[in-house]
Amino acid sequence: MRTQVVIVGGGPAGLLLGQLLYKAGLDAVILERQSADYVLGRIRAGVLEQVTTDLMDEVGVGARMHQEGLVHGGFDMLFKGQRHRIDMQRLTGGKNVMVYGQTELTRDLMDARQAAGLQTIYGAGNVTVHDFDSAQPLVRYETEGDGPAGKQVHEIACDFIAGCDGFHGVCRASVPHSAIREYEKIYPFGWLGVLSETPPVHEELIYANSPRGFALCSQRSHTRSRYYLQVPLTDKASDWSDEAFWQELRLRLDPQGRAKLVTGPSLEKSIAPLRSFVTEPMHFGRMFLAGDAAHIVPPTGAKGLNLAATDVKYLSSALIEFYQEKSQAGIDHYSERCLRRVWRAERFSWWFTGLMHRFPENGEIGQKLQEAELDYIIHSEAGARSLAENYVGLPLDFGE
Ligand code: APR
Ligand code: PHB
Repeated sequence: MRTQVVIVGGGPAGLLLGQLLYKAGLDAVILERQSADYVLGRIRAGVLEQVTTDLMDEVGVGARMHQEGLVHGGFDMLFKGQRHRIDMQRLTGGKNVMVYGQTELTRDLMDARQAAGLQTIYGAGNVTVHDFDSAQPLVRYETEGDGPAGKQVHEIACDFIAGCDGFHGVCRASVPHSAIREYEKIYPFGWLGVLSETPPVHEELIYANSPRGFALCSQRSHTRSRYYLQVPLTDKASDWSDEAFWQELRLRLDPQGRAKLVTGPSLEKSIAPLRSFVTEPMHFGRMFLAGDAAHIVPPTGAKGLNLAATDVKYLSSALIEFYQEKSQAGIDHYSERCLRRVWRAERFSWWFTGLMHRFPENGEIGQKLQEAELDYIIHSEAGARSLAENYVGLPLDFGE
């Protein structure tokens, strides 16, 4: 088989890239290790910046998002038992975010891909990437064979490989150590998340800094809630009964939140570690990395999906420029262009994580300094604006 671009990974990054290339008339095949249902079963964040909703519109898959997504013009910060609203809309001159689950966005992209008759190979095993330092890269993968021979090996010749295969993917792992630099910070706690078919405790999100640790009240719809608690890394999701989760969440909320909280059985419960991670560069000859394959942010601020979306927008522009204008300029600029935005989001996510969580290892002075910073952010127009400006995200062509 031959195609112009092989996209490894059919998560949001791979699917959105596929749609952007398709709209430009370019040929791509997506290789996804898992099944479509498995991909849709992963519960991830759900706050879209305007750049991301614009991209969904650009590729013609924004209709359901606009119908079902919830537009939020602000969020609450809970600190010392008091709620303070960050009025994003006022502070940023009219910008909002859209609350729409990553699962829903992924489903919309999958449906559009299927409707256009584009090729996604699910269950692609043992994907390997070859010769991306030449002009003729090659990708191999396996499928379960029918006969007694077992696995069947396939080969796709292509012009480019897009590594959209997440943090544990094969593309980044195939780059020689000498050609890549990785920056990493692991945080000493995780987020225990619960999804429940209950109305959200508040119409907007609540980010809570409590003496018992961070809590986040988020949502997926008017009837579906997503809540998180900061927990020790040694905890397991199975250690937490639903009742224990709700009880701990109540203790981290204010009296008004406690009174309004509606609890119910968890539909999903899991613990995610928190990590800051960046790979430099994001471009190796004829192979590119995009999304979680290249960088991870801690989820405070919900930047992960938005960064994945902007990476693939920059990548699709570079590839379109290559084919339509015979210019290498976008390709040469890809990594630098992404990384500037990535580092800005990494800084914000690290800072917001530090502002909202408990860090006993920082001692009493660390605690006092955190409180002073929260006091500043909440009570200074400049402080609140800085938070709001970063939360709504950078425009696509910031500072260029
Ligand atoms: N071969 C084929 N597919 C693979 C391989 C492989 N060797 N390794 C991983 N994959 C697939 C995974 O099964 C997954 O479906 O690549 C996909 C990567 O998807 P995501 O992990 O969702 O990453 P990405 O598309 O970059 O989306 C970023 O996801 O983790 C969140 O916060 C992050 O919201 C952001 C978004
Ligand atoms: C979520 O809804 O899952 C969510 C929202 C905001 C965050 C992180 C996660 O900062």
